Amino acid sequence: MTAVAIIGGSGLTQLKDLKITRREVMRTPYGEPSAPLVHGELGGSEVVFLPRHGQSHTIPPHDINYRANIWAIRQIGVECVVAVNAVGGISPGYLTPTTLVVPDQIVDYTWGRAHTFFGSEHRKVTHVDFTEPYCPGMRRALLEAGRRAGMALLEGGTYGATQGPRFESAAEIRRMERDGCDVVGMTGMPEAGLARELGLCYASVAVIVNPAAGKAQGEISLSEIDKYLKTGMARVRELLEAAIPL
Ligand code: HPA
Repeated sequence: MTAVAIIGGSGLTQLKDLKITRREVMRTPYGEPSAPLVHGELGGSEVVFLPRHGQSHTIPPHDINYRANIWAIRQIGVECVVAVNAVGGISPGYLTPTTLVVPDQIVDYTWGRAHTFFGSEHRKVTHVDFTEPYCPGMRRALLEAGRRAGMALLEGGTYGATQGPRFESAAEIRRMERDGCDVVGMTGMPEAGLARELGLCYASVAVIVNPAAGKAQGEISLSEIDKYLKTGMARVRELLEAAIPL
């Protein structure tokens, strides 16, 4: 059985060092996942990779079929998911691009996304605990692997999930900072909540690729983000190789 799935975000549509064994097209009661699941080996361990925005990065954050992605991963028997998310930095200490963060909390500002497996069709009102939205054991394993590899990771932080695809206004970021958010991204929810509903262990590695709106001089620069995505995702690959098997 495959032990871990990696959901790649912006800048991580493929895992360079993954020795691919097969691609699996999946269908779920919720439709098709963002792409075929890519099965392979990373450092001798079986891994499944799924690019959240599609193979060619064409699906925007609000149109991702989060339910199909999480359902497909569960269906093949995977129990652990590492989600990779590009983020903007909000609070002091979280502003340096290419820094990796392993968040420990989430605030959800998204709307209109299919966010639960437990709608009325489920025919039973079901609530899940979400006090600790990320799996503490997996977070610890990621942080320890980073430490072993001599990588500086930020241990914890609150991820604010916004709707996108536009970036935020400076006032929205100030509000998020008052709410206690350290970083902001567009894909953290409903993914984490859906993973919890299906009982998956789920943790995120967030890569800071820009200071959030109003946290640096001038506008957010897409070319700067592209540059930092490249360096940041190279660091994510290094961390994943150090961490797997989790
Ligand atoms: N805001 C929202 N999502 C993001 C950002 C940001 O500043 N940077 C990368 N993803």
